[in-house]
Amino acid sequence: MQTIATILFLAAGVCFIMGLKLLGKQATARKGNFISAAGMTMAALGTLFSIIAGTEGEFEAGTLVWIFAGMVVGTAIGIPAAKLVKMTAMPEMVALFNGFGGIASLLVGWAELQRHYDAAGAVAAAVEQLNEAVGAAGAHADAAFGVGVSSAISIFLAIFIGGVTFTGSVVAWGKLSGKIPSPPMLYPGQRVINGIMLLGLIACGVWIAVDPSAQAPLYISIILSFILGVAFVIPIGGGDMPVVISLLNSYSGLAACAAGFAVNNVLLIITGALVGASGIILTRIMCLAMNRSLMNVLFSGFGAVESGGGGKGSGEQKEAKILTPDKAYYMLEAAQKVIFVPGYGMAVAQAQHAVKELATLMEANGTEVLFVVHPVAGRMPGHMNVLLAEADVPYEMLVGPEDINPTMESVDVAIVLGANDVVNPLALEEGTPISGMPIVEVQRAKTVFTMKRTLGSGYAGIPNPLFYLDNNYMVLGDAKATLQALIDEYKSDS
Ligand code: TAP
Repeated sequence: MQTIATILFLAAGVCFIMGLKLLGKQATARKGNFISAAGMTMAALGTLFSIIAGTEGEFEAGTLVWIFAGMVVGTAIGIPAAKLVKMTAMPEMVALFNGFGGIASLLVGWAELQRHYDAAGAVAAAVEQLNEAVGAAGAHADAAFGVGVSSAISIFLAIFIGGVTFTGSVVAWGKLSGKIPSPPMLYPGQRVINGIMLLGLIACGVWIAVDPSAQAPLYISIILSFILGVAFVIPIGGGDMPVVISLLNSYSGLAACAAGFAVNNVLLIITGALVGASGIILTRIMCLAMNRSLMNVLFSGFGAVESGGGGKGSGEQKEAKILTPDKAYYMLEAAQKVIFVPGYGMAVAQAQHAVKELATLMEANGTEVLFVVHPVAGRMPGHMNVLLAEADVPYEMLVGPEDINPTMESVDVAIVLGANDVVNPLALEEGTPISGMPIVEVQRAKTVFTMKRTLGSGYAGIPNPLFYLDNNYMVLGDAKATLQALIDEYKSDS
């Protein structure tokens, strides 16, 4: 039985590594997801077999009932949740998953200590009896607590990181779903208070390592880590939550890794390390794409003060030119090269199918069409890629800003579809919240159509001078409705 479990763990580990590799490319992502899910099934079965093997033939059927009940309840919640979640709510869902990962690691660590408390209690009772029996002869025996220093540290880390991840993820979920106010919540002495809590947790960690049998530091650690998780995330604005979620994802991996060491489970160590490493890599990629440091994301309270501030830029005093879709159609119809730059507004409007239909009509009309996907367009990594893939936009039509910017002058019409910050030319100037962020430089295209509902600012809260440039036209309205109007124009003309 143990051999089968080991083989299943090994196969699961290979599946996770292969799955992660395949998930890196859009064309193979579905396969990667499937292989990872197969790996997870093998991991669950392997765990079951190893539990049965560990009981050396004295496995209680009642335990099986509990395990299967857990699997049934989890599946019954997981499948509808995954099917019903809207694309725009995906970051929230990921936040909750991270939180569950964190609390699971905390519970594993706690259960491991509890198991030793119980065992030590039983041994202590036996030793007591023994001491009573031999007491007359003056001999003594002490009950030993069977947790070494390294195990105690692993258990503490699983509890500490798992607890922070759990409550931090719940706050991130609340901010993204609008259940908790999205702006950063800042208060005096915030960092000092967080620092004191962190020191308190480190002290508890040392206490547990020195005396694993002491129960007080366990409970203090659980409470402090829960509070620290909340305190860590509330000063961060809702717009930065994707970065926080990615970081918490990494933490959930580290917590699982620590739990793996605590219960001596190699697969948990491998998977935890994979999640921890990939999460931190993704966090770094996002920070680089926004040209912000992780410290700036975590501690600057971005989004708290900006409200139409940063009013730099050349053309914003002018009036923006407004164009209706029927007029826009005449320019589009004559264009030879058109690019779409999708942003968060496309996700809000769920306009991915409409844009695909319009692109197909344009191509049939002899126009070259490309989609320029900025790495941080939207609100989660790969947000635009996922939506465009859902609408079957061929991967070959997708390019990055670095591919199109050098030849932007050759673009007849750049259609900005519910994007704002990622096309804001203020990024090329000094002293704005987005200074240095790479942008899609649509302002250099021959003509720009900006499709959004108002002249309002985007996530960074700064005005966009693009709207007032001579070559830009605002096609105001919901992105999907505007695209549908253009589709109707194409169809009625054919
Ligand atoms: P934003 O700058 O947030 O602009 C989106 C625009 O969409 C808004 O200005 C809004 O204008 C418009 N919009 C909303 N609903 C719409 C609808 N139904 N139809 C048409 N337009 C609609 O988005 P972006 O350009 O994609 O930039 C993303 C921002 O998020 C960047 O600043 C980035 O740094 C930040 N961010 C991204 C990530 C990741 S990983 N993607 C992570 C953290 C932060 P109206 O209200 O006027 O319509």
